[in-house]
Amino acid sequence: APRAIYGEHRSNSSGINFAQRPALDALKTAMDAFAQRQWQAHPLGQGAIAEQDAERVLSPSDRRREVGQVRWTSTDCIEAVIGTAMRAQLTWDEQGVEARAAIVERLADLLEEHRAELMALCVREAGKTLRDGIAEVREAADFCRYYAAEARRQMAEPEVLTGPTGERNELHLHGRGVMLCVSPWNFPLAIFTGQIVAALVTGNSVIAKPAEQTPLIAHRAVELMHQAGVPDDVLYCLPGGRELGARLTRDVRLSGVAFTGSTDTARKINQSLAERTGPLAMLIAETGGQNAMIVDSSALPEQVVRDVISSAFLSAGQRCSALRILCVQDVIADRLLTMLAGAMRELTIGEPGLLASDVGPVIDGKQKRMLEQHAERMEREARLIARARLPQDLPEGHWFAPVAFEIDRIDQLDGEVFGPILHVVRFRGRDLDRLIDDINATGFGLTLGIHSRIDRVQDYIMQRVRVGNAYVNRNMTGAVVGVQPFGGEAMSGTGPKAGGPHYLARMCVERTRTINT
Ligand code: NAD
Ligand code: ALA
Repeated sequence: APRAIYGEHRSNSSGINFAQRPALDALKTAMDAFAQRQWQAHPLGQGAIAEQDAERVLSPSDRRREVGQVRWTSTDCIEAVIGTAMRAQLTWDEQGVEARAAIVERLADLLEEHRAELMALCVREAGKTLRDGIAEVREAADFCRYYAAEARRQMAEPEVLTGPTGERNELHLHGRGVMLCVSPWNFPLAIFTGQIVAALVTGNSVIAKPAEQTPLIAHRAVELMHQAGVPDDVLYCLPGGRELGARLTRDVRLSGVAFTGSTDTARKINQSLAERTGPLAMLIAETGGQNAMIVDSSALPEQVVRDVISSAFLSAGQRCSALRILCVQDVIADRLLTMLAGAMRELTIGEPGLLASDVGPVIDGKQKRMLEQHAERMEREARLIARARLPQDLPEGHWFAPVAFEIDRIDQLDGEVFGPILHVVRFRGRDLDRLIDDINATGFGLTLGIHSRIDRVQDYIMQRVRVGNAYVNRNMTGAVVGVQPFGGEAMSGTGPKAGGPHYLARMCVERTRTINT
């Protein structure tokens, strides 16, 4: 597949251009071949054992449609699986970075070759729209190529440190041991793959525990990883729920955990790791956000509305980076909110596999109920700005119409509400400092949007709001691997940033060799 090369260490998949009809038609035809496919998931890896009974996996956009079946992991195999992965890691680490990087690059090619199937799965199992499905495959392939290139750059040769001792001093990077990768359902392919390949390419063996909502995508991805050449005692995929995740994090033989998901779960994992005796484990946690966009009176209203719609409502608002609190300077607020309401009425909610659909379903009944409860509360405590139109003829699925409310103060909100609900606050120009304090006081620090054509205002806000990723005069989702390293601070994560140059080092131990020459 064609891809753009941006530098010695960076290359990105170019996906598919929807404006090119033949490419789009070819993709749709290829996806149609999987329309009736039933996928199967079960534990993968040497010695992994499944429970007896299979469970049906239903599509979030149509509860009558079975996507496949999953057999969950039997906890009886955990003891042996971790032991096997520990032993296999030694050989995998010794194999050297070049061999591992070549396997991970082969995986990138395989992901692109299987794009139609993986997209069909993303649409049917996770309710992803076509655009989001393409982005999933693209980002997964990007993680593979970027981390492979970075691993070669950082690990191929030890760093030689000269100094006053007169000896030869070398700093070597090695895999830590067995890494547990715990991932969420909202990027069931991209984040799932990113965590795993970073751990693998640096010489770790991996136990992947995918989200319980998306075991089929995870299973297919790990089959491709094994096909690319990762040995089946080095990489395991263990489908299961939070109980399985909790059981795994208690095991003292794990060297570290790469986790992406909610802040609450990150706290539980942190606690579980801290309570273990024996070696201290490393934790990378990439968690939630309470993301704001600040719009001042110099902003271009049409551009703001387009970027708000994209940031708050596309992907059904189910991105950690999504916009939750729109802060509009009072002098432009009435006009902007009228335009926003109009644009919201134009949104098409529908079957995620149709090109015309802007917004698909939310992931499950639990998320839908949580969103409905929050919207009911907002109806009592806030002012409704607009609600998108939910078509009557949708199949029985987890549909939730994007909605926007005006609130008085940011501290009316309790925390992250993960879905297409936007909150709007007005601010006066002279109260910008207070607004910035209120945003910081949420305790999160993931993304921030700024719409202002005044450089001084942009700089002033960026200096003061504590977030990992700030976006100026554009939408605030869709960070690009290797170009826009992604991740938050405070309650939004520990760092290092995914898709950035410091991520791999955290997966490694450093060993110093001092040689008397
Ligand atoms: P979640 O925390 O409920 O679950 C995430 C994963 O953790 C799942 O695999 C789950 O089974 C597992 N898990 C749950 N409890 C566990 C425990 N006690 N021990 C071990 N594992 C456990 O999150 P979710 O609902 O799947 O995902 C949505 C959340 O993820 C949102 O808060 C979103 O902001 C966040 N997210 C963050 C990023 C980021 O990069 N910062 C990216 C995507 C999603
Ligand atoms: N990396 C994802 C985004 O930027 C979460 O939207």
